[in-house]
Amino acid sequence: LQKAVKPPLIIRLCQPRGFCAGVDRAIQIVVLALKKYGAPVYVRHEIVHNRYVVEGLQNLGAVFIEELSEIPDDHKQSPVVFSAHGVPKSVPADAVARNLFYLDATCPLVSKVHKQAMRHQRLGRHVLLIGHAGHPEVIGTMGQLAEGAVTLIETEADAATFQPANPQALGFVTQTTLSVEDTAGIIRALQERFPDLQAPAAESICYATTNRQDAVKETASGADLYLVVGAPNSSNSRRLVEVAERAGARMSLLVQRASEIPWDDIGAISTLGLSAGASAPEIIVDEIIDAFRQRFDVSVELAVTATETEDFPVMRVLRDVELTPA
Ligand code: F3S
Repeated sequence: LQKAVKPPLIIRLCQPRGFCAGVDRAIQIVVLALKKYGAPVYVRHEIVHNRYVVEGLQNLGAVFIEELSEIPDDHKQSPVVFSAHGVPKSVPADAVARNLFYLDATCPLVSKVHKQAMRHQRLGRHVLLIGHAGHPEVIGTMGQLAEGAVTLIETEADAATFQPANPQALGFVTQTTLSVEDTAGIIRALQERFPDLQAPAAESICYATTNRQDAVKETASGADLYLVVGAPNSSNSRRLVEVAERAGARMSLLVQRASEIPWDDIGAISTLGLSAGASAPEIIVDEIIDAFRQRFDVSVELAVTATETEDFPVMRVLRDVELTPA
């Protein structure tokens, strides 16, 4: 019997891709808390926006909740972990009032944005937060300051219509996972109207977002298809899909698992771009490459655009727990 010849396919695989240091730390915190305190460990909101990760932690004994009031009275000794996206100040305050033991897995780079927002306020500035309404990080950052102290700017249209009480006293911060390009446009629009607008002391868009977008930009041109591994509610993953399209990929899609690849729509392709959002585990990237190997004669070209060395340590109380593979 003659074997069918598979068509050749080059996969341009981005590096860096996938887990960032903040996601890695947040997952470690849940795993270590389970080891140290035993199940259940409550986690407020999806620890990171990835179903595979959430289900893996559920299997180890994590219980995901949206509000602290969901923790039953007889489980008040169990720790509750706050997600990597950060939380409004009212959440730890509520935990203290309820006598709960909490572990805050907010990414240090999100905490840095919180500090920058507070700094603007200390210096008498009204804070503009550039970001997407409803995203947990935005809710968390807005919730660092009193109601009314922060105005959310989502688009250049918002920048054009915003009416401040005092145009001389404004400072901005941004969500950490935005499109670098779109954000620059919004900041420019604001600066044109408000020349005194103060930038944060340090860039709000984080290294992982910037690096992943740069890598996609480098590899998108000429790609017949671009796949980004990530969840529909993952902001940084969705931005990667947009970046791929703008940078010249013929088609670009977000997929959570290999089973979501729409084979019938793909048609004949010879070059595939592949990346993963900051909350997407590497095992799914492998799964997707394997799925292509079944249909194509694949050669993987690694496109290295940056080297990441960031590593955020977990909080002291968990440092004595030995992390053995689960
Ligand atoms: Fe932190 Fe950036 Fe990851 S803010 S959680 S390092 S995407």
